[in-house]
Amino acid sequence: MKPEQKDIYTSLAPLYDTLMGDVDYESWADFIDEIMQTHHYDPQNILELACGTGALALSLAELECYSITATDLSASMIKIAQQKAAEFELNVDFFPMNYLDILIEKKFDCIYTVFDSVNYLKEKEEINTFLLNTYRILNPGGLLIYDFSTPKNSLESVDFLNNEEGVAGKYRYFRNSRYDAKERIHYNEFEIEELDQETGKVINSFREIHTQRAYSLHEMLSIVEQTPYHLVAKYAGFDLIDADENSARVTMVLKCQNLQ
Ligand SMILES: C[S@@+](CC[C@H](N)C(=O)[O-])C[C@H]1O[C@@H](n2cnc3c(N)ncnc32)[C@H](O)[C@@H]1O
Repeated sequence: MKPEQKDIYTSLAPLYDTLMGDVDYESWADFIDEIMQTHHYDPQNILELACGTGALALSLAELECYSITATDLSASMIKIAQQKAAEFELNVDFFPMNYLDILIEKKFDCIYTVFDSVNYLKEKEEINTFLLNTYRILNPGGLLIYDFSTPKNSLESVDFLNNEEGVAGKYRYFRNSRYDAKERIHYNEFEIEELDQETGKVINSFREIHTQRAYSLHEMLSIVEQTPYHLVAKYAGFDLIDADENSARVTMVLKCQNLQ
């Protein structure tokens, strides 16, 4: 049976939490909380972009000090996030939204997005659009916090990610990962098989190809320079430590200077 090609994070959605089983979202939420509390005088209304199945937003919601809205392009990922919020009785307003086409009129004190979600933007102009769109819905003094993955991260992780396989509930998956260092594009191709629970036979098969662009710190800083944002900090890893060109993942903290 020829695998059906699906939009990204459609067939992968039911497997996503298993694939991310080793990710410590509670510590990641603590890191985002620390950044917000360090660089904003009183963060209250928070927006997460590209929230996936909501793990980080739900961890932040447990702190009970923020009003949280969380969005993602994939309706399948959002549906799982909504189910988890209901199951754990946590208050997060989840809905689907493309972060390049922000349709919210409300303004926020902090907007954040994590785990390389911005690397799905393969053109510098798209990052610029993303930055200007978020600026428009931040309160004066508000923060945009986002991480991105650098070429170093792709070079270090590609062998580890390639040929990964596993089982998640009624699904079996296989990942092929490759990095084009010249174009700085990282390809992750997932083959997903849905198995009949009784016979174990494959009843459906899907393919998703994810392409992400790795950005150097220098490239990202030159994009930010062309926006009205003020650069507050650039952190390496998950600590308040200044990033440099050797950092594998960088968390940017930008401030909206609009004072009206
Ligand atoms: C690597 S996952 C990270 C999800 C989540 N932030 C986490 O930490 O688990 C990348 C997410 O980016 C979302 N995404 C990709 N392009 C997007 C876009 N243009 N607008 C909103 N979300 C997008 C995908 O649907 C996916 O859920």
